[in-house]
Amino acid sequence: MDFQSVLDEIYEQVKQSENRGTVASYIPELGKVDPSKFGIYLLDHDKKGYEAGDANERFSIQSISKVLALSQAFGLEGPDIWKRVDVEPSGDPFNFLSLLELEKGIPRNPLINAGALVICDILISHLKDPKQDFLNYVRSLANDDSIDYDEKVAQSEKKTGFRNVAAANLLKSFGNIHNDVSDVLDFYFYQCSLSMSCKQLANTFFFFANRGKCIRGHEFLNLSQIKRINAIMLSCGFYDEAGEFAFRVGLPGKSGVGGGIVAVHPEKYCIVTWAPGLNAKGNSAMGMQALEQFTSRTGLSIF
Ligand code: DON
Repeated sequence: MDFQSVLDEIYEQVKQSENRGTVASYIPELGKVDPSKFGIYLLDHDKKGYEAGDANERFSIQSISKVLALSQAFGLEGPDIWKRVDVEPSGDPFNFLSLLELEKGIPRNPLINAGALVICDILISHLKDPKQDFLNYVRSLANDDSIDYDEKVAQSEKKTGFRNVAAANLLKSFGNIHNDVSDVLDFYFYQCSLSMSCKQLANTFFFFANRGKCIRGHEFLNLSQIKRINAIMLSCGFYDEAGEFAFRVGLPGKSGVGGGIVAVHPEKYCIVTWAPGLNAKGNSAMGMQALEQFTSRTGLSIF
């Protein structure tokens, strides 16, 4: 299959889209990003890369980082992780709080904000220097030491992340945060501020398409663990739009409010899009269109 021509055609077509969404501004620093940015990167199973547009420009990966934190925590803690966070789709926005009260402090899944805060807490309990050790984990997965946090984005969210502060305190009141709430929030805001390009994200997420082995061939998770995280991405990666993403695109994936989307087809490829304008559910409007076109044109969805 001529992936390059497919990407070029999709890029040209989606770039003209009138349905471009709105850039997130509830984290003030994200509101400064140029809404016309658009990039696509595909890494196939033979590690050959294909790109279009702004595929090498770094952006704030935000919630996409939750999958990487989950994978590090799952590797360290094993199946006990599921005692503290469930694996059911929430059908609610990523920052919704009432379910947490109803379900006694056990978040529906690790990809909504409350679940990701519990994962941060688990990592803090395991790691000596959580921020640095998590960064090293991501660098090692990507085989790229230039990956880093964006200090400005982290500080910007720290000043305005009131709902996350509320969620962390509610979790603490149910006993599902073991460390200091302020340490958990600080780690979470830094984790979300990771700045990466489409290409760097594809290299990092390659192991989800490669039975747990990273681009250098080192095993980070076993096949059973990879199956479980891919399943969680499919059912929970897009919050109250997870059904729509599975219906239109048909791949496990994860979005972030920085406008990135990562999607994987086990043993076939990993694809990443970046377009900062978000739809009403907080997922990249043009990214969804590009990925729907990609799996429709190539026939390469998991279904
Ligand atoms: O906690 C937040 O609100 C952000 N740091 C991350 C949210 C996010 O990316 C949701 N994804 N679509």
